[in-house]
Amino acid sequence: MELDKLLNEALKTISDFPNNASNSDFANLKSQYLGKKSFISEGYKNMKDIPNEEKKSYGAKLNEIKEKINQALEDKYNSITSYQLEQKLKNEGIDISLPGEDFSKNYINPFYLVKEKISQIFIDMGYEVVDGPEVESDHYNFELLNIPKDHPARDMQDSFYIDENTLLRTHTSPVQARMMQKYQGQPLKMICPGKTYRRDADNATHSHQFAQIEGLLIDENINLGHLKATLELFLKRLFGQERKIRLRPSFFPFTEPSVEVDISCFNCHGKGCNMCKGSGYIEVLGGGMVHPNVLKMNGYDPNKYSGFAFGIGIERIAILLYGIDDIRRFYQNDIKFLKQFNKN
Ligand code: DAH
Repeated sequence: MELDKLLNEALKTISDFPNNASNSDFANLKSQYLGKKSFISEGYKNMKDIPNEEKKSYGAKLNEIKEKINQALEDKYNSITSYQLEQKLKNEGIDISLPGEDFSKNYINPFYLVKEKISQIFIDMGYEVVDGPEVESDHYNFELLNIPKDHPARDMQDSFYIDENTLLRTHTSPVQARMMQKYQGQPLKMICPGKTYRRDADNATHSHQFAQIEGLLIDENINLGHLKATLELFLKRLFGQERKIRLRPSFFPFTEPSVEVDISCFNCHGKGCNMCKGSGYIEVLGGGMVHPNVLKMNGYDPNKYSGFAFGIGIERIAILLYGIDDIRRFYQNDIKFLKQFNKN
């Protein structure tokens, strides 16, 4: 009876033992009930004083008690370790009330910043934004733009050929031909931003892949004055109202006359400095009046319609706007570079 009382006390102490006890507290508890000085060990030692006929049942009783205490200690051990695990998970868990890490959602590659800025100015002037294929036929990339097979202007646009008649477009100008054919002799007003490719060795100012924004407007009675006014409005909005605009004669097979467009230098405002190589002006884009051959080939009557076109290098504009030193920066995903630009 004495043993039963001790067992019940032990089971109660073990089950009441706090789950947040330390490992060493638990080790003490264990030795209290199973160690050398425990009542069970004492019980085994007392065996010699037990009358022979009771030894067997006494021994069995001790074994049974030891078994029960072992089980109770094991249960307690499981409760303590699962409590510890719970605490660990709680402490190491994510605190959702803390401010999160900044995922740079406002940063933008200056390439896209400039592409959007340019596009928006033309959208405000009522231009439609269109798209065209990057894998283009020789026919659209050259022939329909008045650049026949043996034309020397082809040498300026070394290309990536897929087969004899298919290439990565060297400029966005083939979209002019595509849109003229789509509009079938009707007035049209569009820009096309897109990727272009040339077989150039990459360096600070050249990249085998770059991007342009093509512009085309066709209607009755369109003249060079319209082109100049349009580009002046565009360039002043982009670079600042104080900029002066200058057209110089140039040559493109698909325009006649053709112009190169300059803006007054940001640095010296036209006086001449290192940045503009003493000229006071910086070249920004090319354009001209759509060549009558191009109009004719693509379904427009040059006696009724005339138009202007222009081509803008997106990276070139971004380089000028932000003073970027190397065209390759647009494509390298260098976070330190990109972090300098944001949408606002
Ligand atoms: N396609 C020309 C180039 O890549 C740029 C250009 C010049 C486009 C004059 C035009 C234009 O539409 O009228 O060098």
